[in-house]
Amino acid sequence: MSEFLLRPMASADLPEVLAVQAQCYRPELIESADALASRLALAPALCWVAAHADAPRRLAAYLLTHPWPRETLPPLDGVLQLDGEAGDTPLTWFIHDMAVAPAGQGQGLAKRLYAKARQGAMQAGLRCSRLIAVQSAARWWQGLGYAPVALATEAATRVSRYGEGAVVMGTQIGESKNGAVA
Ligand SMILES: CC(C)(COP(=O)(O)OP(=O)(O)OC[C@H]1O[C@@H](n2cnc3c(N)ncnc32)[C@H](O)[C@@H]1OP(=O)(O)O)[C@@H](O)C(=O)NCCC(=O)NCCS
Repeated sequence: MSEFLLRPMASADLPEVLAVQAQCYRPELIESADALASRLALAPALCWVAAHADAPRRLAAYLLTHPWPRETLPPLDGVLQLDGEAGDTPLTWFIHDMAVAPAGQGQGLAKRLYAKARQGAMQAGLRCSRLIAVQSAARWWQGLGYAPVALATEAATRVSRYGEGAVVMGTQIGESKNGAVA
């Protein structure tokens, strides 16, 4: 089995991020470098990559996450700026994109990336998480405790752009009774 090193994402990783994205998503879900860079810029500590141990610039997987107002959804392929959207709305930990290239799938990489980013989200004081599951990944997210959430009309319009079958999901993140991260 291959060895992977997990580390926070840097701007220099974006070409490899785009290469992994191209292997993982159907064409209508592919986002531009500018859109992905804007998400990384929102919260670099909450974006992680898994690099090949023997070729550390080559990525096997990435996870882009950022804070976002709880009641709205970021536009697919849009360049994000938090200032304009936030207002007084509480922020949620928004999981934008988890992608593991086919060669790295089934080795627990996605769960490891998630655990790293969640630690950062908790340190940032975020306690609620949201995501849009696409490509039939809802069942995978359910395994991490996410469940479908109801939406306001404006948000429902945005989710339709993520393609047929896209599901908005949410969960609480926090400490369990014995102090472990839940
Ligand atoms: C979904 C995805 C992130 C999982 O990554 P991964 O590193 O292979 O996941 P893990 O190794 O942590 O978990 C593998 C387990 O999840 C299961 N699984 C993988 N994809 C799944 C899916 N779409 N639905 C339900 N279960 C799924 C596997 O069968 C495996 O189960 P097992 O542990 O019982 O054998 C990866 O398949 C992927 O990148 N897919 C393409 C991009 C995508 O659709 N991302 C999600 C967008 S919301």
